[in-house]
Amino acid sequence: MKLSKKMQSAQLLDMNEELFKCPICSSGIEMVDHKQLVCNNMHTFDLAKTGYVNLAPQAHTTKYDRSLFEARAEVMGSGFFSPVLDKLCSIVADHVESIKQPVILDAGCGEGTHLSAIHSQMKPESVGIGLDLAKEGIAAASKAYPGIIWNVADLAAMPFQDAQIDVILNVLSPANYGEFNRLLKQGGKVVKVVPETGYLQELREAFYEGKPQKEETDPVDRFSEHFEDVETERITYKFALPEGLLAPLIRMTPLTWNAGDERVREVLSVGMNEITIDLRAIVGTRR
Ligand SMILES: C[S@@+](CC[C@H](N)C(=O)[O-])C[C@H]1O[C@@H](n2cnc3c(N)ncnc32)[C@H](O)[C@@H]1O
Ligand SMILES: [Zn+2]
Repeated sequence: MKLSKKMQSAQLLDMNEELFKCPICSSGIEMVDHKQLVCNNMHTFDLAKTGYVNLAPQAHTTKYDRSLFEARAEVMGSGFFSPVLDKLCSIVADHVESIKQPVILDAGCGEGTHLSAIHSQMKPESVGIGLDLAKEGIAAASKAYPGIIWNVADLAAMPFQDAQIDVILNVLSPANYGEFNRLLKQGGKVVKVVPETGYLQELREAFYEGKPQKEETDPVDRFSEHFEDVETERITYKFALPEGLLAPLIRMTPLTWNAGDERVREVLSVGMNEITIDLRAIVGTRR
């Protein structure tokens, strides 16, 4: 008999409950009756029907809503990020090769496609944990990708015990390096992906006459203040946009959030043949 998503997830949580701590009182937490996580002080967190658990102490509304994550899933499912994912898979594989049961956490995982793709290439015993503050992202991830622990939580105060994680992924999302160092095992790695100057340049040209989004400080410098043995690699290519993908591409990126409907219609009617992906992977080891 096929297990429900909730039951599958309850079993996963049961096997990995030692990774967690209560987001309210920091005490240990355990899976009870295949339906809720309960801490030593009786704070309880129910599993949703699709198996994710909400461990954010307060409800948050973010600009990342359901339609944005649907658009993101459509774009990411088109092969748009395949070369990036290949690179990330090989970085992760090199690090976890000799680890018996590696634990990988995606902090700011959105709708979960990247973590699912990377986790599926790892050894079967690997534990995947996806975390995002946007409930809609985690709900979509848990629906699409069972076999991974999905939770709603703030990456600045994550509901995990110290030194439990082998690899933290952080793709196009905010970071909290103090928290990342707390969670990583000795020798554990952070793999962060940041946009480079050409990232989605065709969209910036269409909406903002190509003005680059300027970061105030260099993300590599900031990263290097917190991690050892930092290496970076730029990943640049053009992706031929299949018919129908421009609308979800426009919808999924914060770049176009301030654009008016009229301009969006104009850009859609002109169309776009290809789009530039220009990213940097930054890898470092826990200090
Ligand atoms: C641009 S999206 C990237 C999502 C995914 N990594 C991807 O590449 O498709 C940024 C993500 O960061 C999440 N995020 C922002 N602040 C966060 C926080 N404090 N804690 C957890 N997630 C956060 C958002 O909800 C959103 O899903
Ligand atoms: Zn508690």
